[in-house]
Amino acid sequence: MKIGILISGRGSNMVAITKAVLDGTIPDSEVAVVISDRSKAAGLEKARALGVEAVAITRRGRERDEHDAEIVEALRSREVELVCLAGYMRLLSADFVRAFPERIVNIHPSLLPSFKGLDAQGQAIEYGVKISGCTVHFVDEHLDHGAIILQKAVEVRDDDTPETLSERILGFEHESYVEAVRRVAVGNYKILGRRVLFSG
Ligand code: GRF
Repeated sequence: MKIGILISGRGSNMVAITKAVLDGTIPDSEVAVVISDRSKAAGLEKARALGVEAVAITRRGRERDEHDAEIVEALRSREVELVCLAGYMRLLSADFVRAFPERIVNIHPSLLPSFKGLDAQGQAIEYGVKISGCTVHFVDEHLDHGAIILQKAVEVRDDDTPETLSERILGFEHESYVEAVRRVAVGNYKILGRRVLFSG
């Protein structure tokens, strides 16, 4: 399976997925391209260091549809079959979502549907929940919404700051994202409404 990964920054989830592809944990797959909407994203160099093609496709003041069309074209030209959003800080246009039906996945640092959007970890602390976590889900055109592939629960401690909680959740994100992409690559699942059901 050819994978394209979209990032905007640090790229630690992208690195986790790429390493899992390279060591065979995610079977029969290749990371065909890493695309960032920010030319200064630190993840671009990290991808190249792992031997993966990495390009910046920035918005340059264009409408979202036009920007997304260029990214879709870049993915298609490399025959990408699965798109992983990994800290990609933009909402996809409906055309982008339609270009890869049930073939775009995202990771979010909360137990969805709680705490969508920015600073999910700060939102969790502010709300006072004792358990948060991370969610890997298929993507539709709504923010942090779509059929859930897997979730991991993470304890919120009394002395947590957004930074310490983010750090703790991030470790679980890496293993969750790898496991979710592995399951999608193996392909023994079906989507029933909002539910992703795995067999075997
Ligand atoms: C992660 O916490 C991810 O869940 C969120 O943005 C962060 C990206 O981190 N969407 P990284 O770029 O993968 O290191």
